[in-house]
Order: sequence, then structure tokens, then C-alpha cells
Amino acid sequence: MKENHDPFARSRELFARAQSSIAGGINSGIRKMEQPVPLYFTRGEGPRVWDADGNEYIDFQIGQGALLYGHAPKGMADAIAAQARLGTHWAAQCELEIEVAERLQAMIPSAELIRFNNSATEVVCAAFRLARAHTGRPLILKFEGHYHGWSDEGLVGFGTPPERWGDDEQPEPFHPSRGVIPEVPQQFVVARWNDPEHLQRRVAQFPGKIAAIVFEPVLCNTGCMEPAEGMLAAIREICDREGIVMIADETITGFRFGAGGAQGYYGFVPDLTVLGKALGGGTPFAALAGRRAFFTGILEGSVIHAGTLNANPLCLAAAKWCLDFVCERGARHPGEMIELGRRLMEGLRQLGKEHGIPLRLQGPGLVFHATLLKDGAEDGPVRDYRDYVRRHDAARWTHLRRCLLEEGVRAIERGLWFLSMAHNDADIDEALGRAKPAFERHAEQWKANGRGSPSTA
Ligand SMILES: Cc1ncc(COP(=O)(O)O)c(C=O)c1O
Repeated sequence: MKENHDPFARSRELFARAQSSIAGGINSGIRKMEQPVPLYFTRGEGPRVWDADGNEYIDFQIGQGALLYGHAPKGMADAIAAQARLGTHWAAQCELEIEVAERLQAMIPSAELIRFNNSATEVVCAAFRLARAHTGRPLILKFEGHYHGWSDEGLVGFGTPPERWGDDEQPEPFHPSRGVIPEVPQQFVVARWNDPEHLQRRVAQFPGKIAAIVFEPVLCNTGCMEPAEGMLAAIREICDREGIVMIADETITGFRFGAGGAQGYYGFVPDLTVLGKALGGGTPFAALAGRRAFFTGILEGSVIHAGTLNANPLCLAAAKWCLDFVCERGARHPGEMIELGRRLMEGLRQLGKEHGIPLRLQGPGLVFHATLLKDGAEDGPVRDYRDYVRRHDAARWTHLRRCLLEEGVRAIERGLWFLSMAHNDADIDEALGRAKPAFERHAEQWKANGRGSPSTA
């Protein structure tokens, strides 16, 4: 991008205009994080996306992971268009919903029954309701830093500031939003991720009271932390022993980690599974899948689950295309994407080394996180939320991300990178070529100022 020219002028103009019609100028809180301005996009194709200023990016934000098949895949666009001509919404049944549910059953062994919604936030609420009805117990155990949507229930224990951590053994059920029903956080037990012994002790503090344990199988909403050795087996064992419902939130990992999601990849069998993002390939679609016994409340009619737009035919048409695409890839998925992701990680690691940037890349390639270590922070795997907050220099990442953006590489505002099936070797080479001047500029500016001074105003 040229010197002395604001490459984001049109986005700035639109963002300023949006202030008088859209509350805060954006429609999802996290989008406000984007520096120097939340960007406006006009089109995408495969792994690339173009903003309103005409800048082209190799995209690793990729719809916050939803665009597993890249931007605007032709087959999906055709499927949605064909359905749109037949009808956009019936608020009733159609054969497509059975076809999609049957595909899920075939791909995910624990998916004996399915219900559809439009967002994973809603699905999480349904899962909690079913679990409470199933067990007759009030509490949900969740892990610190895991994100389960933006509802009162989904956000407990997310983004807890250090002054509210409580001691390591008893994390506080902090809620990051005002306006929440005051009793909601009290219905949660928060535990630290990746410490099976701590989890055993935490559960033992609430005998006969915990209805469900919910978790991101790979913590992707705070850093990127795969389950530690024995962690998933410990959750399954505790749930079986204590009669607790095991809820895997596979909103991010579903289909990304293979046709069977993280449960296929790591080999575990949850009771209920939350699916979203890649299920609809960028359409507003999500599903609850699980073993028949845990749907009893819905089957008997004692648990209410509803939604005007549930099983919307446009989303179903997209989802059918997406699931067939995953299945057609067969054994090539997720191996090919892992390889690409690892190459990208290695290239970025090398660039970090060359420029003296304390960059730690962590994750299984399909998704990974760029942690920038704070001055004096030790290297080594980031294990849990507290470890992440203690060691990750968020301000420094924001500066590096912006330098990358200015060179045409788009990563996520909080440090995450997603691969897609649309990226190939040439895209990775090109992204690394673009990243080189971005790393150089970041290193120079950070050193010069002791902090980030953006290269354009
Ligand atoms: C693990 C996880 N669960 C739930 C959600 C909520 O999904 P949605 O934004 O579709 O409501 C998200 C969204 O990022 C997520 O990452």
C-alpha cells in the first residue's frame, strides 16, 4: 500500500456514516476491535476478500471460521439461488431438513437426533435447558475463557479480568456484561481448562448439583489450546460417574477437524453437540445433535425449543452442499488443511525469529493462535486462560495484525488464524511473502517507540 495515502479511507467514511443509524456502527461487539477502523467488504472469492477501498486480502479470518469452504463457493451460491426461487421460508417442514439431519447422523456417530437453529448461541441455550430437564439439577460447569455465545448463560466466565479471578482453585463465575439476570452467574461453576485433577476437585464440591459440563474441545476463543492429555477422557469419566450431561461445543471445530469434528479427531463421545459456523458455510445456521436419551424433554414436549426461522430452507440448501463437500474430500480432510496450516505457522515463526519478535504460534494448523509474549514472559505452551492473560501482549498483537492487514493478510483481531479448504500452497507462499514487510515494519516501529505507532493515521 502506498505511503501517505490512507488505504482505509472508504471504510472510515462508511463507519462514520454508520454511527447515525447503527448502534456503535457495528453489529457484533467483537467487530469494534478491528484497527485502524472496522472494515467494510464488497466481495469475496475463495481465500480472498476485497474491502470497500479495493484492498485485496488473503483471508485467515474467513468469516470467524464459518467459511470453511472459502468465500462464495459457486456450488453453494447455486444451491442457495435455486432454493430462493422455490421459497425462502415456510416456517414448516421440507424434505431438505431430513436430508441434512441424515447427513449429520452419518458423519457424527453421537448424532442420533438433531434440532436446527439459526445461531450457536441459541443451540447452547437449548442444550443447557435439556441438560437441566434431564438431570433435574441446576448447575452448569464451564471452563474459564471458553465462549458459548453471547446469551446470559453463554458468557459466564469469559474474559474475566485478573482482579475478579478469585483463587486458582475456585474461579469466580464472572459475567462480562451488564444487564444480565443477577441469578444467572450463580447457576454456573467455573473451572480452569486443561487440569483434570482440578476438574475432579471442582465437581466434588457440588455433589448431585451439576447438570452439565460444557466445553470447547479445542479452546479457540482465548488463544488456541488443544485438550491436554487425559482432559477429554476425564470429562467423559466424571460425566458417566456423576450422571452429568457432557456437552461438546463444536461450533468452531465441527467439520473443520474432519467430517466427525473434534470428537472424531480426538476420539470421544459427547452426549450433546453444538454445531454452527461451518455447518452453514456462512449462512445463519446451527444445530444441536446428540444421543436420543438427552432429547427426552423435547420428545415428551416438556422442554420448549422453537424459532420462526429454524430449519430455514436457504440455510438447509447451503448446509447440504457444505456437508457433501466435506464428505467428497474424504480422507484428504483434515490432513491437507493441517499441512497448509503448519506451513503457514512455520513461515510466520521464521519471520518472527528473523525480526526478534517474541511470537509463539500454537494450535493444530487447522486453526492456530499468534501469541506475542510480554516482555520477560517465559516461552512454552499456553495452557489455560490465566496463563494466556499473563503472557500474551494483546496491544503488540494489534499492532502486528494491522501491519499484516496493510500488506494484504487478514488475521483475526484477537490473534486467531483459520485455514480454509479454499487456501492452497500458492496462497500460503503469497501470504508469507506479504507478511515479510509487515513483520519488518512492526519490529522497527515497536522498537522505536517501545509500543506501536501505526504507520498510517
Ligand atoms: C465455541 C462457540 N460457541 C458458540 C458460539 C456462538 O455462535 P453464534 O455466534 O453463531 O451464536 C461461538 C461463536 O463464535 C463459538 O465460537
